[in-house]
Amino acid sequence: MTRPLPSVRIGGRLADSIAVTTRHSASLYPWQIGSALPTGPSAGPVIGLDVLAGRTVFHYDPWELYARHIITSPNMVVLGQLGKGKSALVKTHLHRQLLAGRQVFVLDPKGEYRALAQLHGIPHLRLAPGSSDRLNPLDPHPGDNPAATQRRRATTVAALAATGLGRDLTPEERAAVTAALTDLPPAALLGDVVHLLLNPTDAMADVLSTGVERLAGAVRPVALELRRLLDGDLSGLVDAPTSCHLDPDGPGLVLDLSAAFGTPALVAVMVCAGSWLAATLTQQPSHHQAGSFLGSGPSAASGSRQRLLLVDEAWALLHLPAATAWLQALSKLARAHGIQLITVVHRASDLAGQADTGTATQAQARGLLADAETRVLYTQAAGERALLSDLLDLTGPELELVTQLPPHRALWRIGTHAAVVDHLLSPLEAQRLVDTDASMRRRHTNRAGGQGSGS
Ligand SMILES: Nc1ncnc2c1ncn2[C@@H]1O[C@H](COP(=O)(O)OP(=O)(O)OP(=O)(O)O)[C@@H](O)[C@H]1O
Ligand SMILES: [Mg+2]
Repeated sequence: MTRPLPSVRIGGRLADSIAVTTRHSASLYPWQIGSALPTGPSAGPVIGLDVLAGRTVFHYDPWELYARHIITSPNMVVLGQLGKGKSALVKTHLHRQLLAGRQVFVLDPKGEYRALAQLHGIPHLRLAPGSSDRLNPLDPHPGDNPAATQRRRATTVAALAATGLGRDLTPEERAAVTAALTDLPPAALLGDVVHLLLNPTDAMADVLSTGVERLAGAVRPVALELRRLLDGDLSGLVDAPTSCHLDPDGPGLVLDLSAAFGTPALVAVMVCAGSWLAATLTQQPSHHQAGSFLGSGPSAASGSRQRLLLVDEAWALLHLPAATAWLQALSKLARAHGIQLITVVHRASDLAGQADTGTATQAQARGLLADAETRVLYTQAAGERALLSDLLDLTGPELELVTQLPPHRALWRIGTHAAVVDHLLSPLEAQRLVDTDASMRRRHTNRAGGQGSGS
């Protein structure tokens, strides 16, 4: 027998119904009878309505679920085709978590989080030519000792060069980068590193037991690629002193990277901005318990406060081995520092690793999933079924479901639990936070009325 799921009014429009058989719904959600996900206000902010549980209110809070031992990995992955409501979901999740006293940090490749920043008084940095906002990914951080600063800088520079070159660095190149970073002053910029790689010192050559000329030749491809990035795509964005001070007790930070969206520079900017953010967020205060996700609560003193870090459009990173490795490292760091990392991708294949990138990269892409026990699936193409089954271990009925979901409705897998949730927007959220179609409509109206370009 086929049982239509209840239709739900979402944001002023009626969502299409989906239909599953009662046998399917029973096999999908046997665990909802008995050990259900927590409900009620103590279960966290409302996300929407669980249509398979009689349209009951669906709450979600990673800290609450962690405290109740329902999840052990706090991170979240959101998958879905274009325009299905992924960003709207994460915007409202962040908004509602901010209202609960948590801090929010956003890597915003499309420039869609300004309204959220304005609503909550979150500092907003736009890294773009002509803007005075700047980030220096080599910034030392107050809690770092010199060795930690050097390690972190080396990882960032190597990841940046590797994304530009489209390959991993050789051991010699890597060692040269580390050597170049040994004696840099606290206020060093990426340009200083390029200069040293183009002109290695005797001290650098000594450390690597080689001659200056041989070292210069070996590391030249890295130096030239970094210089190309800094002179071209990244010009001025990440090669100048940082223009903001992050208040540890403030609401967070939005980094708008939209100037690079749709250009080859996007991945490099994401790596630089993300590295800077990660270093800032993972400062270990002396009272922080390493490995503890819970921290000291939403409004505790700086350092141990519960935080969320969003990487929207993360699929852009997953096509390059170095960027994939970097994102997986970020995912591990987040978990150890009481941060929920949220990554947004389009397809399961984004998370499978590219066939031509090698097994290590595939393992790293899959590792992101392993660290994310909250998986939110919006509509997926039927062609993704095999991968969805392999990567996400979906049941047959779940596979059927995720290829038929209407917009704004998602299958949530939380640990071993599942729900099918219609995402609800408050009027304020609908008007101020999530309407990414508005600019498209404005352009259309302007063109139709012949009133200009509609920019
Ligand atoms: N729950 C909802 N109720 C009503 N409208 C919604 C809802 N979620 C999203 N929308 C609308 O759908 C449009 C697209 O949503 P959104 O930008 O979140 O999609 P997306 O999946 O992030 O797309 P993309 O992959 O292009 O980034 C937005 O204009 C938004 O207003
Ligand atoms: Mg989006």
